[in-house]
Amino acid sequence: MLTELEAIKILNWGGVVAIPTETVYGLAARIDREEGLKQIFSIKERPFFDPLIVHVKSLEQAKEYCQDWGEPHQLLAEAFWPGPLTIVVKKNAKISDLITASLPTVGLRCPRHPVALNLLEQIDVPLAAPSANKFTKTSPTSPDHVRKSLPDVPILEGGECEVGIESTIIEIKKIEKTDQYELTLLRPGMIALSNIKKTLKDFPLVINNTGKGPLMPGQLDNHYRPDIPLIFLRRSGLADQDILLQINEKLNISIEHKIETLVELHLPQEAWLAARILYAELRRGGEVHRNQALLVREQEFMKTELWLSVLDRLKKASYLIL
Ligand code: TXA
Ligand code: MG
Repeated sequence: MLTELEAIKILNWGGVVAIPTETVYGLAARIDREEGLKQIFSIKERPFFDPLIVHVKSLEQAKEYCQDWGEPHQLLAEAFWPGPLTIVVKKNAKISDLITASLPTVGLRCPRHPVALNLLEQIDVPLAAPSANKFTKTSPTSPDHVRKSLPDVPILEGGECEVGIESTIIEIKKIEKTDQYELTLLRPGMIALSNIKKTLKDFPLVINNTGKGPLMPGQLDNHYRPDIPLIFLRRSGLADQDILLQINEKLNISIEHKIETLVELHLPQEAWLAARILYAELRRGGEVHRNQALLVREQEFMKTELWLSVLDRLKKASYLIL
């Protein structure tokens, strides 16, 4: 098991380390070590057009890496940091184009996991870290998940992640020549949009996306995929035989891999609990027999605002929505 000191050494040499955060484990490199940043992309097999989130030790540190940090950014950071909120803001020259996929903006987040915070304090340079999994696969929420996904990566262990799904990402900018702000929800998470709006109640806001609408660029719709087909069932009253027939037909499954049985995944009613266990359950489901498919049924209780983010991940992880 890696000690904090060893993790710091690796990072300072320009290497990568998997680190715990309260959302999911991240694959971290110092933002000023190009070798490390490049390794993140090669280890994850991640395309360079997908920008990385930069993790900071504090609000003060965040401000050193961006421009146009206004009052709304300040209020949100004060309200939700350290915590699972990523704020996208105009970057400055200290953030390389490799991190942001040449976008003029950077996603900043101060995580609240004590191991991550302590590491950031010690290193005193922000860490770029995407989730520690292969591109498009399920994010890891325990050291074991990281070992299975990325066996060669050293891990700074910090137990199981408390939140369980990735941070809420918002972009917020002033609309030129007005006193209005434009807020775009880029990825829903366990910090709800209504909470964000409440915090910004004194600012005139134009909301661009509520998380229910079309996907934002850079957010591919085949993310978080488990190893066996996951089916999200919206229609009730469909018999198992019908479901199986549609899976085999629509997914073009060959005879030898034909799906014969459905394994139902029951998620708890409380969204925060469902989020916490979701990825572990998808992984466990993925270890079952090849001729099985995982099934999650849409339920009445999934209509709350917090469920939006869990449903977002479930739908993106699904091979088929019926
Ligand atoms: O909870 C989390 O956010 C975790 C932990 C490790 O902090 N990280 C994470 O990173 O989920 P990743 O790489 O799996 O997701 C990063 C996503 C990108 O795919 C992109 O959609 C968005 O963040 N993003 C990052 N920078 C952005 C930017 N400048 N503009 C728009 N979207 C950005
Ligand atoms: Mg990811």
